[in-house]
Amino acid sequence: MAVKIAFFNHKGGVSKTTTTFNVGWMLAEKGYKVILVDADPQCNLSGMILGYNEALELEDFYNNGTINNIRDGLKPAFESMPRLLEAVECTEVEGRPNLLLLPGHIKFAEYDVTLGISQELSGSIQALKNLPGSIAYLLDRTAERYSADYILIDMSPSLSSINQNLMMISNYFIVPTSPDFYSVMAIDSLTSIFKRWHAWSNKAQNVDILKSADYPFPNVLPKFMGSIIQKYRLRDSRASQGFQYWIDRINLTVKDKLITQLKDIDMMLPEEAYINNRLTENYCLGTIPDFNTLIARSQQHKTPVFALTNEQLGHRGVVGTSARENRDRFYNIFNQLTNNIIGMVEYAERY
Ligand SMILES: Nc1ncnc2c1ncn2[C@@H]1O[C@H](COP(=O)(O)OP(=O)(O)O)[C@@H](O)[C@H]1O
Ligand SMILES: [Mg+2]
Repeated sequence: MAVKIAFFNHKGGVSKTTTTFNVGWMLAEKGYKVILVDADPQCNLSGMILGYNEALELEDFYNNGTINNIRDGLKPAFESMPRLLEAVECTEVEGRPNLLLLPGHIKFAEYDVTLGISQELSGSIQALKNLPGSIAYLLDRTAERYSADYILIDMSPSLSSINQNLMMISNYFIVPTSPDFYSVMAIDSLTSIFKRWHAWSNKAQNVDILKSADYPFPNVLPKFMGSIIQKYRLRDSRASQGFQYWIDRINLTVKDKLITQLKDIDMMLPEEAYINNRLTENYCLGTIPDFNTLIARSQQHKTPVFALTNEQLGHRGVVGTSARENRDRFYNIFNQLTNNIIGMVEYAERY
């Protein structure tokens, strides 16, 4: 069974999409089969990977006769069609074997209200009983089709019913943040949101009518892997003082508030998992500085900054040397970050 990891923070612009792509790429490079799920109706991840900039091209992509995106995959359940959900046909990510995209769809947002109603009632209406478990079922069938090891889920910046579902059907979750006041606030509010969502999933798992659905609501409880702090400026190879202040505040808020709450609702791994991966100091999987000039090349080549080839970096002379050094530095950071994730999963699977 593929491991599902949700990248979630209801705040936007904290590098959820970028990090999902980068971590997925690194996992694939290490030989794992990875499916990136674009569950954000804004479709930023799909846009980044498919690179369609004309609405017409995208229209052709969606209407090519196959079930090739998340909305079409879920359609039979949400539009009461008398057939079972089938695996989605994923798109291969150019330049990175083993990495697949399950594309998003702007109209996926239209299912949010119905899903919300089905989740509120927790199965008391017969006609909606198949919805709460449908997304997990679709992801599982798709993972089976491709023998995937990892499913990374990129989510919208909201507290939508879709996000509530995705979070609670995952095995693990990671909270991307950026070093500023708003991220500290966001982590603070996540503590009460997770408590509410946990209470809901607990109920959903124990309602008889949902257990007997075509797509039963899965019996999982997502565990916190750690935070990621990203996009700060460097000074003499370290976070500048202003940014360091917010990095410390985030770490403190995660430790004092989030972790305390998550322990109460059993959404933490055993302490040894964090100790084993040397994460107990602040439960941060990685800190990532600003990509600066590399970001333009990365977007141009639809390739993570750390995976850009010398040709793609393109500069000669001193500028080229510094670009390559930067690229290599980011490689080490994402390599370590990804190793932390693998380490946590391996530890947890063993116990
Ligand atoms: N480390 C980074 N350095 C510089 N820019 C970044 C970094 N990470 C993300 N970005 C940029 O910040 C913007 C927001 O990132 P994105 O991944 O879309 O965030 P989210 O999905 O949380 O809204 C994008 O334009 C992205 O290219
Ligand atoms: Mg995003």
